[in-house]
Amino acid sequence: MKQPKPWWQQPGFRVGIALVLLILLGGAVSAVYLTQIPPEQPIAFPHNRHVGLGAPCAYCHPGTAWGPNAGLPGIDKCWGCHQQVQKKSPELEKLAAYVANNQPIPWVPVAIQPEFVHFNHQPHVSAGIACETCHGDMTKMTVAEPQPRQNMGWCLSCHQKMAPEQWTKLSDCATCHY
Ligand code: HEC
Ligand code: HEC
Ligand code: HEC
Ligand code: HEC
Ligand code: HEC
Repeated sequence: MKQPKPWWQQPGFRVGIALVLLILLGGAVSAVYLTQIPPEQPIAFPHNRHVGLGAPCAYCHPGTAWGPNAGLPGIDKCWGCHQQVQKKSPELEKLAAYVANNQPIPWVPVAIQPEFVHFNHQPHVSAGIACETCHGDMTKMTVAEPQPRQNMGWCLSCHQKMAPEQWTKLSDCATCHY
C-alpha cells in the first residue's frame, strides 16, 4: 500500500508556505522602501543645489569635526546668504517668515540612532571616512534621505573591516552603550 504523503508535502501546505514567504518578502521590501522616504521638512531644503554651489558640509554641520552632534543650520546661517540671494520662491518665503519672526526652523531628524547608542563623528571623520559613506550622495538629494539598515551590525561590520587591530575595543558593548 502507498504511504500517504507527509503533511509538509501536501500541496495545500506548500501553497501556504509560498504565500507566507510572499507576504514576508513584500513586507521587507516595503519596509526598506518606506524607511528611505524622507520626512516632510519645514522648508524643502535642496542639498544638491547648495553642495553644487560649493558650500562645504561642515559650513552647515560644523560639529562633525569635533563633537558628537553634527548640528543643523539655523536662520542666521541661511540668512547670511539669503539676505543677498533673493529670488521668487515659496520655499524662500517660508525662510523669510522664520527670520521675520525670529523663530528657529523645526528641522525633522533623519539620521538618528536610539538614545542608548553613543556615536561621535570626530573619530570617524578623522579616520578619513567620507560623509557620503554613511549618509549617501547629497549631490543627488534635496532634503536628507534616511539610509536603510544602519543598525548594530552595520557599525560592527565596518569596525571589523576597517580597524581590526582595535576590534577588542570597537566591539566592546561599553564602547557604544554606556
Ligand atoms: C553659501 C550661501 C548659502 C547658504 C548658507 C544657504 N543658501 Fe540657499 N541658496 C543659495 C543660492 C546661491 C541659491 C540659488 C541656487 C540656484 O538657483 O540654483 C539657493 C537656493 C535655495 C533654495 C531654492 C530656492 C528656489 O526655489 O529656487 C532654498 C529653498 C534655499 N536656498 C534654502 C536655504 C536654507 C533653508 C538655508 C539654510 C539652511 C540656505 N538656503 C542656506 C545660497 C545659500
Ligand atoms: C561612520 C558613519 C558616519 C560618517 C562618516 C558621518 N556620519 Fe553623520 N551621522 C552618522 C550617524 C550614525 C548619525 C546619527 C547619530 C545619533 O543619532 O546619535 C549621524 C548624524 C548626522 C547628522 C544629524 C544631526 C546631528 O547633529 O548629529 C548630520 C547633520 C550629519 N550626521 C552630518 C554628517 C557630515 C556632514 C559628515 C561628514 C563630515 C558625516 N555626517 C559623517 C554617521 C556618520
Ligand atoms: C547650506 C547648508 C547645508 C549644507 C552645505 C549641507 N547641509 Fe546637510 N542639512 C542642511 C539642512 C537645512 C538640513 C535639515 C533638512 C534636511 O534634513 O535635509 C540638513 C540635514 C542633513 C542631514 C540629516 C540630519 C538629521 O537631522 O538627521 C544629513 C545627514 C546631512 N544634512 C548631510 C550633509 C552632507 C554630507 C553635506 C555635504 C555633502 C551637507 N549636509 C551639506 C543644510 C546643509
Ligand atoms: C564606515 C565604517 C564605520 C562605520 C559604519 C561605523 N564606524 Fe565607528 N569607527 C570606525 C573606525 C575606522 C573607527 C576607529 C577610528 C580610530 O582610528 O580611532 C571607529 C571608532 C568608533 C568608536 C571609538 C571612538 C573612540 O573614541 O575611539 C566608537 C564609539 C564608534 N566607532 C561607534 C560607532 C557606532 C555607534 C556606529 C554605528 C552607528 C559606527 N561607529 C559606525 C568606522 C566605522
Ligand atoms: C559599534 C557600536 C556597538 C557595539 C560595540 C555594540 N552595539 Fe548594541 N547597538 C548599536 C546600535 C547602533 C544599536 C541600535 C540599532 C539597532 O537596534 O541595531 C544597538 C542596539 C542594541 C540593542 C537593542 C536592540 C534592539 O533591537 O532594540 C541591544 C540589546 C544591544 N545593542 C546590545 C549590545 C551588546 C550586548 C553589545 C556587546 C556584546 C553591543 N550591543 C555592542 C551599536 C553597538
